[in-house]
Amino acid sequence: MTDALERYLADNADRRIASYLEFLRIPSISAQPQYAASVREAAEWLAGQLRSIGVEHVEVAETGGHPVVYGDWLHAPDAPTAVVYGHYDVQPVDPIELWETAPFEPFVRGDRMIGRGSADDKGQIHIHLRATEALLATTGALPINLKFVFEGEEESSSVHLDAWLEANKERLTADLAVISDTGFFEGNRPAVTVGLRGICYIQVDVTGTAVDLHSGQFGGAVQNPANALAQIIAALKGPDGRIRVPGFYDDVAALTETDRAAFAALPFDEEAYRTDLGLPALVGEAGYSTLERRGGRPTLDVNGLWGGFEGDGAKTIIPAHAHAKISCRLVPDQDPGTIYELLRAFILEVAPPGCTVSVQFLGGGRPSLTPIDHPATRAAARAIEATFGVAPVYIREGGSIPVCASFETILGLPVVLLGFTPPDDNAHAPNESMSLANHETAIRTVAAYWSELAALPR
Ligand code: BES
Ligand code: ZN
Repeated sequence: MTDALERYLADNADRRIASYLEFLRIPSISAQPQYAASVREAAEWLAGQLRSIGVEHVEVAETGGHPVVYGDWLHAPDAPTAVVYGHYDVQPVDPIELWETAPFEPFVRGDRMIGRGSADDKGQIHIHLRATEALLATTGALPINLKFVFEGEEESSSVHLDAWLEANKERLTADLAVISDTGFFEGNRPAVTVGLRGICYIQVDVTGTAVDLHSGQFGGAVQNPANALAQIIAALKGPDGRIRVPGFYDDVAALTETDRAAFAALPFDEEAYRTDLGLPALVGEAGYSTLERRGGRPTLDVNGLWGGFEGDGAKTIIPAHAHAKISCRLVPDQDPGTIYELLRAFILEVAPPGCTVSVQFLGGGRPSLTPIDHPATRAAARAIEATFGVAPVYIREGGSIPVCASFETILGLPVVLLGFTPPDDNAHAPNESMSLANHETAIRTVAAYWSELAALPR
């Protein structure tokens, strides 16, 4: 790192925390319609930031849903061009009572920035803003060309993004895409993610009578929607952790010996992982290790389950209806649309009689593997090692970033997943946090990465 850059970063340390806090104060929850104005406010805030640091052609672009923020800096004629992606929307805050302070009143404690979006993903967008600012302020230029694409719907399945990418193909020509929306490995070990799972998200609604019934008067005569839903859910997965939906595994690319060796080589303390989670045991599909089950195998999980009486004490009813939200994490080469059809057919087939069952698709995203041997991936590893002082491990992650596959298929770009959050960031949960040490060093990593990319043979 140049002295000038270090000096600039040191001189602006307080401003940097202030702008991070400012960004986090905007409640940009994409999934809940009542926050739509705040999502737009976050987009406008970002656009203002990009303009103020010298990024050009900044635009809050309409998508039919929440806007995409675009901006570019294209004055490095002989250097490569990277599309830099992040998402400025965040997850809902429930259960609110488990937050130490309000989710959108962020604060710093020790090494942590605490608040919704501090890690996923506003904190990582902020890293890019401040890295770009520092480079432009100190050198008047960037080592490579950058096209920023900041999305506002990632946490609700990026519904409108593919169409926007299609419509903006010309404008988005580049050599690679860099996504900063992943994190480090266990023990906060620097990592480059090289695989993400896809997702298929459904809702199952089971309906009986128009209103709840007296369970004494009617119990024994009618189907109970909650029992029926429990039967359906129980049919989906066996005690061996295998998903019982016919055809579910048909398109799963088996883990190769190389894949399995890579999982086995990671410095993973399974016992510490278990005790940190406070669990009596780790469970999953038979025949696979914990890391394989998390990063390389598909899953089926109930995300939410409701129906009937949930208050204190006893109320004797047969509920009128019961509901479940269920998601499957998918691996190459599973397709969310195909999995949805298989799930739907199986659920309707195993549904017990005497009730109405409906299945709806709530969202999906394709799985992806990024090229581990690509020069741009190796360059990212060098930038991480140069700034964090440790060579990163390469990991396949269990989470999903739908745009990753879209960058590959729609724009034809190789993707580098360059993310910096610590593994205990509580993403999607109460008290989400980001390590400020990671955030600070990552600003240097991003700057170093652009230089590494500029130095690659063209
Ligand atoms: N940042 C995550 C993706 C992620 C999670 C990457 C864990 C690596 C490790 C992203 O914002 C996210 O949560 N995505 C959703 C996508 C879904 C709503 C389509 C997810 O994975 O649940
Ligand atoms: Zn994210």
